[in-house]
Amino acid sequence: MTAQQLMQQLNRDKRLTKEEWIFLIEHRDPQTAEELFVLARSIQREHFGNKIYTRGLIEFTNYCKNDCYYCGIRRSNRSAERYRLTEEQILECCGMGHALGFRTFVLQGGEDMYFTDERMVELIAKIKRRYPDCAVTLSLGERSFDSYKRMFEAGADRYLLRHETADEAHYRRLHPAELSLKNRKECLYQLKEIGYQTGTGFMVGSPGQTAECLAEDMLFIRELNPQMVGIGPFVPHHETPFAAELGGTVELTLFMLGLLRVMLPNVLLPATTALGTIDPEGREKGILAGANVVMPNLSPTGVRKKYELYDNKICTGDEAAECRQCLAGRMKSIGYELAVDRGDYRDGP
Ligand code: SAM
Ligand code: FES
Repeated sequence: MTAQQLMQQLNRDKRLTKEEWIFLIEHRDPQTAEELFVLARSIQREHFGNKIYTRGLIEFTNYCKNDCYYCGIRRSNRSAERYRLTEEQILECCGMGHALGFRTFVLQGGEDMYFTDERMVELIAKIKRRYPDCAVTLSLGERSFDSYKRMFEAGADRYLLRHETADEAHYRRLHPAELSLKNRKECLYQLKEIGYQTGTGFMVGSPGQTAECLAEDMLFIRELNPQMVGIGPFVPHHETPFAAELGGTVELTLFMLGLLRVMLPNVLLPATTALGTIDPEGREKGILAGANVVMPNLSPTGVRKKYELYDNKICTGDEAAECRQCLAGRMKSIGYELAVDRGDYRDGP
C-alpha cells in the first residue's frame, strides 16, 4: 500500500484504520501532499463554491481557572494582564461586526467563573434579539450539561471545544491532573446531543505529539462526526512551561487540513490565526489545502494583545474593518470571496 493509494481509499470510504492513518501521515511527501490538496479543493469547491465563510471572533475574557501547559492565558501566568469586556462592549463589537458583514459572532474566553449561566443567557439573548439574522458560537470551555442547555435555549447556535489530543498519555502531557480527556469528550457528546453545531479540533505539533496521536485524533473526529473542526499549529508562549518547545509546522498543519476535508466533505474548517502567525500566507495556504472559514478578530484593539495564547499572534493592532478588508484581499488573490452569510453546516452529499 502506498500513501497515494491510502488517500484514494480515504476519499472512497471516508475512514481509515489507526495503522493506515499512521502510515499515511508518516509516509507523506510533497507529491502526496499536492495530490491531497487538489482533491481537497475539488471537494471544497463542490460544497462551497469559491465562498469563504467568516466568523467575527470576540475574545471577551482572558481570565481562566485552568492551567493548560501550552496556553498563554493559563492561570499561573502572573504576567498576563487580565481583562473582561462588559456586556456593552461585547454588543458594540457585534454592532461593528454586523455593519462589516459578519453574520456569526464567536464569543471566546478562558474559563471565567464571572460569566455565570445567568450572565451568559442574558448576553446571548440580547445579541440574538439585536441581530436575529446572526448565529452565536460559544467557546467557553468545559461546563455542565445544564449550563450548555440553558445557553442553547437562550439562542446559542454553535459551540467550539477542541479535544486538543485524543491520546490519553499525550493529554496528560499537555494538561494538569484536574483536567481529563474523558470529561472533554463527554462535553462534546453532550453539546451534540443538545443540538449545537459542534466543533472539536487539536493543535498540530504540540509537545510529545506523534503520528499515532494524530491517528487517534482522526479516529475520534470520525466517531464524533462534528460540524466544525478547528486545527492550527502549536505555537510556544514564552510564559508557559512549553516556552522552549518547538512549534508545529505549516507543512503538517496543511496536510492534516487536507485529510480532514477529504474525510468530512461538508465540515466547516477554518484556516486559523495560528497558521497565519507562523506563515505570512498561512491562511491562504490553509484555504488552498481545503479550509473554508476564516475567523478575524472583532475584539476592541485595546485588549487584543492581552489575549495572547501564544507568541507573535497576528492582527493584534488592526481595527476589525482593516482585518476584514485585509482578508477579503487575501482571499481574492487566490480566487475566493468572503461570504456575507451565517455559514451554517449543511448535511448531505
Ligand atoms: N477556554 C476555551 C477552551 O478551552 O476551549 C476557549 C479558549 S482556548 C484559549 C482556545 C484554543 O486555543 C484551545 O482550544 C487551544 O487549542 C488553542 N491554544 C491555546 N494555546 C495555544 C498555543 N500555545 N498555540 C496554539 N494554540 C493554542
Ligand atoms: Fe484556559 Fe487557555 S488555560 S483558555
